[in-house]
Amino acid sequence: MALADYIAEKPVVDTARLRLRPLRPDDVPALEEWMADKALYAYWGKGPGKTDKQPALLFARPAKPSKSFHLGIEEKAAGKVVGDLWVYRIENDRTATVAIRLAPSRQGRGFGTEALSAMTRFCFACTELRHLRAEVDVRNAASRRMLEKCGYRREGPVRHGKMVSVRCDFCVYGIRSGTATCAMEYGVRDWLAGRFAAWYGRGIMRSGATKLERNGRNGRGGAVRPPPSPCPDEP
Ligand SMILES: CC(C)(COP(=O)(O)OP(=O)(O)OC[C@H]1O[C@@H](n2cnc3c(N)ncnc32)[C@H](O)[C@@H]1OP(=O)(O)O)[C@@H](O)C(=O)NCCC(=O)NCCS
Repeated sequence: MALADYIAEKPVVDTARLRLRPLRPDDVPALEEWMADKALYAYWGKGPGKTDKQPALLFARPAKPSKSFHLGIEEKAAGKVVGDLWVYRIENDRTATVAIRLAPSRQGRGFGTEALSAMTRFCFACTELRHLRAEVDVRNAASRRMLEKCGYRREGPVRHGKMVSVRCDFCVYGIRSGTATCAMEYGVRDWLAGRFAAWYGRGIMRSGATKLERNGRNGRGGAVRPPPSPCPDEP
């Protein structure tokens, strides 16, 4: 499977306690319970928007075809959606940004870690994505801890940067498929699947790449930029 296979039909990912799945109109009453809660937006880069205040608007128009995912996080035991997550800002089908939020009443139970690690595993095993990242306000201790538990590592601090529409100090966290961290976090079988996908993907890229790209040039006289290296700076 590849990102293009999920344009019309988004994936469903099961974990022990959760199901990550597309949102449905019958989720609206559950979404209304928490989506507009201001506590969620302390480090979100903006306050609740129109659709957060009126979740029914999410279904007012047919969704635009896109490779991005916006999935609800259903708590199986409660039978309702208690959070949502995004895989978006997809660049060259290789890198994407993740974001997640949970109803305040459902935080602190490990759901964030469970949902994000399952989504990360899914992206590396079932799509061509090879690098996921997240931007986190430095004060957002819960989110930073959750990302670290999911195997994400701090790639760099941004001082007084713009996170969505708010200026703050934030960290960029990232995880790459095929790293030792992935092998430990996700098990050798998934790691091997990721390596195979990377190898297969490179084959496709090679055959589709221009001669300049194959020679490491970008066609504008410059070298193709290597991926950014991890930056251990404290924010
Ligand atoms: C970030 C968020 C999704 C985390 O979900 P969660 O289910 O509460 O997280 P978990 O229960 O998996 O906890 C992750 C870790 O953070 C720790 N943690 C939770 N709240 C914390 C806090 N206020 N301060 C420090 N650590 C905290 C937990 O103890 C746990 O670590 P541990 O297992 O070592 O004890 C949730 O807090 C949230 O929705 N926040 C609001 C939206 C947001 O800011 N999203 C992040 C944008 S990327």
